[in-house]
Amino acid sequence: MVERIMPEPYRIKMVEPVKVPDRDEREEALKRAHYNMFGLRSQDVYIDLLTDSGTGAMSKYQWGALMIGDEAYAGADSFFSLKKAVKEILGFDYVVPTHQGRAAENVVFGTLVKKGDVVPFNMPFDTTRAHIFNNGGEPLDCVIDEAYHPEVQHPFKGNVDIKKLEAAVAKYGKDRIPFVMVTITNNSGGGQPVSLENLRQVSDVCRSHGILLLLDGARMAENAYFIKTREEACRGMSVAEILKETMNTADAITVSCKKDPLVNIGGMVCSRTEELHNSFLPRVILFEGYATYGGLAGRDLEALALGLREMVDEQYLAHRVAQVRYLGDLLGEGGVPCVTPAGGHAIFIDAAAFLPHIPQSAYPADVLGIEIYREGAIRGIGLGALAFATPDETGRIVYPKLELFRLAINRRTYTNHHIEFIAQTILDVYGRRDAIRYGLKEGYAPAVKGMKHFLVHLEPYAL
Ligand code: F0G
Repeated sequence: MVERIMPEPYRIKMVEPVKVPDRDEREEALKRAHYNMFGLRSQDVYIDLLTDSGTGAMSKYQWGALMIGDEAYAGADSFFSLKKAVKEILGFDYVVPTHQGRAAENVVFGTLVKKGDVVPFNMPFDTTRAHIFNNGGEPLDCVIDEAYHPEVQHPFKGNVDIKKLEAAVAKYGKDRIPFVMVTITNNSGGGQPVSLENLRQVSDVCRSHGILLLLDGARMAENAYFIKTREEACRGMSVAEILKETMNTADAITVSCKKDPLVNIGGMVCSRTEELHNSFLPRVILFEGYATYGGLAGRDLEALALGLREMVDEQYLAHRVAQVRYLGDLLGEGGVPCVTPAGGHAIFIDAAAFLPHIPQSAYPADVLGIEIYREGAIRGIGLGALAFATPDETGRIVYPKLELFRLAINRRTYTNHHIEFIAQTILDVYGRRDAIRYGLKEGYAPAVKGMKHFLVHLEPYAL
């Protein structure tokens, strides 16, 4: 059933005009893009759901704060605005800014991961996975089995399977496991939350073995909102309180601030101890900039400090999560197979079930992307074999268990009417799914492991 949705808890002060390209223009754009959604120009897209990263709208307070940015190279006031917000909202004493989330990963993983290491995750995001590889380590998925079944209902499908984690710790030991990392919410598994109870269990396992626990907090506020609405023990708590409790389980976090913290650019590493914080500083200075600006302008730090405060606003979060669910409900009502329950930032269509006649080796998630763009000039992104298939030691291709297509909803950007148009467009594609009978083959592809889907040139071929 489609639940009624409340209107947006904001009003529009500035508009960004967008154009709807006609069908011929869309065909031309697809050819120019080599059928890769990353290759499309923004002006070729009517509704852009490629990512929720850095694509949201800042508030008038954030825009106002840009004017008070302190651009001193070291010790800028704006850094201390950020440090204060981090302490108040997340409880960490130490923070280093970075230019975005993967830069935070580069700093942390480059410091802590050595060749031959294994890093247990619930599931890492694609750039996170690539950064572990890049530092000579291997990520290990320890998410609960329910995560691999799009139709199975579970309130916390991002949870770590504690048995899998304990088995990994028993197998590789503290010497080969520099830390355990939990992604909240689990983006690769459908934007699914992790419960506070589960995080505490993971933390207990880590502490009893002297292993650090890190969180990837890109969507930590949405995760806290899900905990508030789904975890009985936390019902009476505010999102802000839950978020602090969540953070209390971890030794450090990396954050892409382009997501929940509501800025267009920025990242950070927050740590519990001075020792851990200090260990990160040389790499921050080497790759990002001095420790108090880390690749960002002072004005960016001011906007981020406010974004951290705004992200725990419960009216905002209630609408955000409801808007994403509304899209899921409209699609579900029309029979479109999606990961359920709806994620916090995105709806993930089960492309394998949508296009069951297209084998995974022909990249059905990416075929679906092309068809949705063709139908409504809407851009999403395939998260299936093209992004995640990897060869094993013998060269045999290992396909991911999930073949998903993601529609990421930008924060405070699109209205509920846009959501209805998106749903109708996808239902139209669903109505003609049997006639979609082609696959995609690769032309140019970069050699770096984990990078293919961003840059690959694709060519349709008839099946
Ligand atoms: N961690 C998670 C869970 C992410 O979703 C992302 C980015 C990153 C880390 C890296 O952060 O982009 O600031 O360098 N996800 C984007 C996405 C790109 O589309 O989901 P970044």
